[in-house]
Amino acid sequence: MQEILDAILSTDATSADFANIALPESYRAVTLHKDEEQMFAGLASRDKDPRKSLHLDDVALPELGPGEALVAVMASSVNYNTVWSSIFEPVSTFGFLERYGRLSPLTKRHDLPYHILGSDLAGVVLRTGAGVNAWKPGDEVVAHCLSVELESPDGHNDTMMDPEQRIWGFETNFGGLAQIALVKTNQLLPKPKHLTWEEAASPGLVNSTAYRQLVSQNGAGMKQGDNVLIWGASGGLGSYATQYALAGGATPICVVSSEAKAEICRAMGAEAIIDRSAEGYKFWKDENNQDPREWKRLGSKIREFTGGEDVDIVFEHPGRETFGASVYVTRKGGTIVTCASTSGFMHQYDNRYLWMSLKRIVGSHFANYREAFEANRLVAKGKIHPTLSKVYSLEETGQAALDVHQNKHQGKVGVLCLAPQEGMGVRDHELRAKHLPAINRFRDI
Ligand SMILES: NC(=O)c1ccc[n+]([C@@H]2O[C@H](COP(=O)([O-])OP(=O)(O)OC[C@H]3O[C@@H](n4cnc5c(N)ncnc54)[C@H](OP(=O)(O)O)[C@@H]3O)[C@@H](O)[C@H]2O)c1
Repeated sequence: MQEILDAILSTDATSADFANIALPESYRAVTLHKDEEQMFAGLASRDKDPRKSLHLDDVALPELGPGEALVAVMASSVNYNTVWSSIFEPVSTFGFLERYGRLSPLTKRHDLPYHILGSDLAGVVLRTGAGVNAWKPGDEVVAHCLSVELESPDGHNDTMMDPEQRIWGFETNFGGLAQIALVKTNQLLPKPKHLTWEEAASPGLVNSTAYRQLVSQNGAGMKQGDNVLIWGASGGLGSYATQYALAGGATPICVVSSEAKAEICRAMGAEAIIDRSAEGYKFWKDENNQDPREWKRLGSKIREFTGGEDVDIVFEHPGRETFGASVYVTRKGGTIVTCASTSGFMHQYDNRYLWMSLKRIVGSHFANYREAFEANRLVAKGKIHPTLSKVYSLEETGQAALDVHQNKHQGKVGVLCLAPQEGMGVRDHELRAKHLPAINRFRDI
């Protein structure tokens, strides 16, 4: 492993040098153990502690298949899917691995008694499999997390429609929270040159998801002048949605739960900010009944910021707790675009407000390769910035996941894998200097 790291740090190692490095038989990786699937049975979600379920193990290097790459991972990040996986909710991820393993002898590699998590990486290509022409050893890359087989016609307009669509490092094995990862080469994207390894690794999953959900025609198709209500506007997804709204000439109305988070939204350039804790919204009167007066109170607050206008788009992901309010506050003909249900997936809303006002609910999930490329390109050009707040070591991934689980974090939480320290990997210092304050916005808040 030291030889790999030395080659990366030397900055003048050639592709041939990387291709000639003998790969180790094993590497360190953050894993879940199949025989611990039931370890949290009977506990409430908030009491399930990722520090207990996430392990740092030595694992065997997987065999490299056609169309794949082994990548030396310098840094990765924690996503909410790391939290879901680590608390075995809503289901254990080992079911995904078993199902994938039934597809072919090659996918059988993924069905193991351990699951290596992680859906982001920044690093260097070590080996490519048969049939790969676009990438070579030594390339500095980030990876998006869409894994597709594309053997069916269904995915050929939009790869997210592939019946064998999976999220790498969540529904597949050999993820990015490790020293080496296995990806399909159609997951690879050029690493933004002005960013450190940990900064470059942090946008991937949430940036691509927010791009499709808000900007792409496959999502809400946001346009200039739109009012966009963004739940969790300083969180993983929301911190990118806020940037896309601002960069695209729309007006974000940011919902957060503390003054510190409101301050971050202001630093990004947002002016309309609602502190849901300070306002004390209570959309549910009890377990089964919502309070439409609270929906109206939110709607009135929004109109104070917009000069009386309602929102064109709601960027939804909290789910059950907020969905009734989201449908209510959307303008006539507007769009509620949802990619998640953090607070519960059985939603309830008053359908009269949907059909009578001709609103649309659009489901969105990750992004296709083109959308992920476009989202990464905007980061590489310095138009969208990483929202990294804190960085942990691979050993501390359990704590990093607990922070996200307890909503104690801002933006994204990074993890150093092979990188010995923060701050390495910058190749374009001029572009970095131009955007340094924006790159560091979320740090040390
Ligand atoms: N389908 C996909 O492709 C996809 C991709 C990425 C993420 N996701 C899912 O989307 C969800 C959010 O992911 P993330 O990375 O943005 O997580 P995150 O970093 O935890 O941010 C979510 C934010 O939502 C807000 N929030 C949480 N619970 C809420 C509630 N009950 N009511 C109102 N606001 C609430 C919080 O902000 P405040 O406390 O400041 O309000 C929190 O910071 C997760 O469930 C994740 O699994 C789905």
